[in-house]
Amino acid sequence: MDSNQEIKILAIESSCDETAAAVVVNGRDVRSNIISSQIDIHTLYGGVVPEIASRKHIERINQVIEQALETAGMVLDDMDAIAVTYGPGLVGALLVGVAQAKAIAYAKKMPLIGVHHIEGHISANYIENKELEPPFLCLVVSGGHTHLVKVLDYGVYEVAGRTRDDAAGEAFDKAARAIGLGYPGGPKIEKASRMGNPDAIHFPRAKVTGSDYDFSFSGLKSAVLNYLNGCRMKQIPIVQEDVAASFQRAVIDVLVDNAMRAAEQYHTEKFAIAGGVASNGVLRSSMEQACAERGIRFFYPSPVLCTDNAAMIGTAAYYEYQAGRRDGWTLNAVPNLKLGERA
Ligand code: KG4
Ligand code: ZN
Repeated sequence: MDSNQEIKILAIESSCDETAAAVVVNGRDVRSNIISSQIDIHTLYGGVVPEIASRKHIERINQVIEQALETAGMVLDDMDAIAVTYGPGLVGALLVGVAQAKAIAYAKKMPLIGVHHIEGHISANYIENKELEPPFLCLVVSGGHTHLVKVLDYGVYEVAGRTRDDAAGEAFDKAARAIGLGYPGGPKIEKASRMGNPDAIHFPRAKVTGSDYDFSFSGLKSAVLNYLNGCRMKQIPIVQEDVAASFQRAVIDVLVDNAMRAAEQYHTEKFAIAGGVASNGVLRSSMEQACAERGIRFFYPSPVLCTDNAAMIGTAAYYEYQAGRRDGWTLNAVPNLKLGERA
């Protein structure tokens, strides 16, 4: 292969409630990033309904891919490979993207690359931070995952800590529902928090026994529910903004505390955050400050690259492509795929 040759990858993401496609050149040059969100539909039900998510992906995936190619000013025949998220995620939702990618790869005789969704989230950091290279430590905080990951090299990961129960985003979503702010919880809590006092209520900061860097958010969720019930029983008015701000502060304190203990132990020089919750402005500024105090360089993607998108899948796929990895016709959706595991 000519070393100056451009590697163009068409990437597809359909693991949850966004139907997304992107064209990414040489890993970090995003030529298009089309995201069709289903949030309006799922909001009616207060959360993602898997069956509806699959049906909407089927309806939209062709248009989203067409738009990604058009925006990039390219056609399918220009692509060098097709990449798709194959796990973890909702099985029916993943299957739509995987089947679509396999069909295109088969028809166009194109290499097929299955990508781990979390590897995608981590790789989102490469897009705007052109100088970022492994090794670094990454806190992945999304609706389904809370992982502290050692990125040893491209495609080489070691999980240093993970949640024992709810993911950080899930905690935001559940707390928002309890407070009466609705869905999706993260952005709603962040917005309400701007008008609230983070010191108004003291919620617990859970420490997990037996592991240095694991997380637990279910106790915090119960504490919010208990607080709200207590107020109702005693007929004390609930200040939504104060509950939101105090909850948000508790989650962020735990995330930053764990992250910085790991960063110190591993003598980390570079720290990155990823996933939907990484778009939270208070988390970003708290991490930025904590990293600055320790002389650690801090990286984060733009909000649109934090939440689910296909550009991050194209970026991750490029490094897999360069490592020579190709998938065959047996590629399948793996709803509980572990990071660093090949299925
Ligand atoms: O990464 P993502 O789009 O999907 C998964 O892979 O799960 O993350 C979605 C999660 C949701 O739980 C949502 O409430 C949370 O990210 N989120 C936020 C914010 N924006 C999205 N959490 C806190 N603050 C935000 N601004
Ligand atoms: Zn995600």
